[in-house]
Amino acid sequence: MKLNIALLAGDGIGPEVIDQAVKVSDAIAKKFNHEINWKPALTGAAAIDAVGEPYPDETHEICASSDAVLFGAIGHPRFDNDPSAKVRPEQGLLKMRKKLGLFANVRPTFTFPSLLDKSPLKRERIEGTDLVFLRELTGGIYFGEKGRRDEGETAFDNCVYTREEVKRLAKKGFELAMTRGKKLCCVDKANVLETSRLWRETVQAMEKDYPEVEVSYEFVDAVAMRLVQWPNSYDVLITENLFGDILTDEASVISGSMGLMPSASLGADIGLFEPIHGSYPQATGLNIANPMATVLSAAMMFENFGLQEEGKAIRNAVNKALNEGIVTEDLADGGKSYGTKEVGDWLAENV
Ligand code: IPM
Ligand code: MN
Repeated sequence: MKLNIALLAGDGIGPEVIDQAVKVSDAIAKKFNHEINWKPALTGAAAIDAVGEPYPDETHEICASSDAVLFGAIGHPRFDNDPSAKVRPEQGLLKMRKKLGLFANVRPTFTFPSLLDKSPLKRERIEGTDLVFLRELTGGIYFGEKGRRDEGETAFDNCVYTREEVKRLAKKGFELAMTRGKKLCCVDKANVLETSRLWRETVQAMEKDYPEVEVSYEFVDAVAMRLVQWPNSYDVLITENLFGDILTDEASVISGSMGLMPSASLGADIGLFEPIHGSYPQATGLNIANPMATVLSAAMMFENFGLQEEGKAIRNAVNKALNEGIVTEDLADGGKSYGTKEVGDWLAENV
């Protein structure tokens, strides 16, 4: 297969972890006879510095004309404590999601047998956890009308959803559930919010098309609790943008390190693949960041092209590295650890 992949390294540790994913992907391409044409483009604070814009048109054109986007991380601390900043790196990410139509954010949480004791939760609670969040990504409070009234004394962010937006996300949720444990949980706050009632009503109407899927409806506050009590009781969870943002961070620590979880953002055609961790500015340039989440994001990218064997080869190499202790310091428990680059080299040699 011939693949054109837009490569958006972004900020902080982004470039370092992206380099490892490229190395591993190139090794996969060699092994399975594919041809990958990487197309680097600017985004985030790096793009603001270069052209004053976190998601420049040129970057959008490169992404839109590629088969997929592989993304590192976005964000820089110099913007975080400056509420008056006019352009922020994060706006680039939101603009990109919207312009590329990436409405479904797939965020899995699974455990690695060799890391069960690294989790902040007890082994017996997390054993067997294998869940996926499908977070709606281009609607809700993130994209509704926002502003200030009363000379700036009152602020508002509107949460808006259309039935169509809920339907297309829920459809992906049902379809995903059919390929897995056939359980779907609709996470909402239907006891309070009108948008949540529209979600529930829409999903309820779709149940008849997927008679094999067992559907549950749970309030977001209860899910936040059950996620740390019995994460292994969930299969596929669908939810709106902000709830999904919060719950997927919560879920990400279950596996033992945020540096392990990959994600995909899907839409009508193009997909974007990125680690769920942030730009980890304190670690920039130190060769200590864990590249595995980005490498596993590349695995999701291959799988999304229908290249299951390729994805599996990457997952197997990551598992092998974890079993053999070829890990960065976040997973080393004070014992021997390897650099970002060394872990990447090892994975590329072992796929
Ligand atoms: C995420 C991030 C983004 C979000 C930020 C950086 C805008 O937290 O991808 O989860 O809130 O969606
Ligand atoms: Mn987030």
